[in-house]
Amino acid sequence: MPATSPPTRGFLKTKEIEGLIGGNRSSGISPPPLEISDPDSFSERNIIGSPSKSSSYTKSGWKSFVVERLSLRNMITKHKTLLLGILVLFLLALHNITHNEEEKLVAPITGEAYLTPNEFLNIRTAQPHESVLITGGLGFIGSHVVDLLLHRGFKVTILDDESNGHNHNSYVKNEMVPNDITVVTDFPQFQSPAEEKNNALDGYFTHVIHLAAAISVAESMTNPDKYEKVNYGGSQIVLDWIYNYNQALGSSSSTESNNSEDVDKYYIRKVVAASSAAIYGDPDPSLLPLQESAGYGGKSGYADTKYRMEGLMQDFVTKQNNNDEDAQSKYSTSAVALRFFNVYGPRQDPKNPYSGVISLFLERAMLGNDITILGDGEMTRDFIYVKDVARAIVLSMLQEEKDDDAASFAVYNVCTGKSITINTLATQIKTSMESNSEITHLEPRDGDIRDSQCNPTAAKKGIGFVSAVNQEGGLEKTARWFKET
Ligand SMILES: NC(=O)c1ccc[n+]([C@@H]2O[C@H](COP(=O)([O-])OP(=O)(O)OC[C@H]3O[C@@H](n4cnc5c(N)ncnc54)[C@H](O)[C@@H]3O)[C@@H](O)[C@H]2O)c1
Repeated sequence: MPATSPPTRGFLKTKEIEGLIGGNRSSGISPPPLEISDPDSFSERNIIGSPSKSSSYTKSGWKSFVVERLSLRNMITKHKTLLLGILVLFLLALHNITHNEEEKLVAPITGEAYLTPNEFLNIRTAQPHESVLITGGLGFIGSHVVDLLLHRGFKVTILDDESNGHNHNSYVKNEMVPNDITVVTDFPQFQSPAEEKNNALDGYFTHVIHLAAAISVAESMTNPDKYEKVNYGGSQIVLDWIYNYNQALGSSSSTESNNSEDVDKYYIRKVVAASSAAIYGDPDPSLLPLQESAGYGGKSGYADTKYRMEGLMQDFVTKQNNNDEDAQSKYSTSAVALRFFNVYGPRQDPKNPYSGVISLFLERAMLGNDITILGDGEMTRDFIYVKDVARAIVLSMLQEEKDDDAASFAVYNVCTGKSITINTLATQIKTSMESNSEITHLEPRDGDIRDSQCNPTAAKKGIGFVSAVNQEGGLEKTARWFKET
């Protein structure tokens, strides 16, 4: 076929080949077109297939170039396995470097908690005046939130009655324990900036995280009064305290003795509270994966008090916004309720019968006891790692308001968006603990939820939260913690 023929399928024009292999135009002699049976498979192999053809049309550098390319190709073909091996080793090394980077512990600004970059992903450091009051800060989730806050340099004050018997944050300097959220006088008393001028930051808060609660679904059925008092009544007291705090600060800043610009910094702009996926109950499968708009389906006193706590938060915001003509209410607090799905991780107490299934299974696997599943084990759950939950809380806390003048209320699911069956979980736990435990099944428990699948998109959009620790990774970290403690 002449070199000037229009290109047809299966052929490359001379210039296209020159472009590909660097033909020497100055010689004035061009190699002929090469026939290629399948243009998609065009490669140097097609040229290697006809070396004599190439050389007979070549007088100068073009030939040597092709020969060099040919020998390189030959070498690659010959040592393909070896080169493939080197490539695999290189990729493994690269993966290890990235992985180790994620695992590298970073020193805290204050406190003692060393975290990996994934564990404080997208959380900024504190400004000097930022100070957080956290209820339930000694608990399983609360202690991880405290770690994260101290890591990022926030001043932290814990309000906890120690009723769950643990103190995971004994190194926190500003502890306020034991104190009860159901007792008004147990909260920090507001002092005017004038009274506080020698120790200006101590009586002030900029954010509140409310996690203190009675947490057993089963107990809430037998002792509903306790849940009414702590989860509903206690939450009302927390919100009233915030409202009164901002009111008092408002009056204080309007007095002549205080520099209002200075005082302005110290109002409480956000309260984040722990709600629960329990409020969805056992939803109709058509509602899965669950969005925040799915209606209330709770089946326990616990779920009921958490749902009504959300209502209190909505009322708290409405009350502030309706007060906007009042000069003293110029400091408003927005509210966020987070519906946690199944939280697991280090510090979860396996001795507590109401603890999550992961800590219970881990302990049984460690002791070599049977891992007992209630039912066929095909029910699904969305398990979220506790440090991810801590991050979701702090991201909500730091989310800037679009409209500074009005308070807002939002609800978000906190989950991974990926559910697994309890059977899969049990097998993963056996593997991670290198355990010989048997997996056994008993009759299902009445009222157990069949499928729990969560839609995490609202939290991603609203607070920029996406879980950073996958379930296998979180399980591995939790298993390590179990083995070490
Ligand atoms: N762990 C989960 O899977 C999960 C799931 C959904 C929601 N939540 C919610 O998250 C929050 C934290 O749960 P957790 O798992 O860390 O439980 P936790 O029991 O470890 O922590 C709760 C803390 O609140 C304290 N507390 C209880 N009553 C109090 C009171 N009257 N005054 C002051 N402090 C009090 C306890 O001493 C404890 O330190 C709770 O509100 C819980 O309902 C947890």
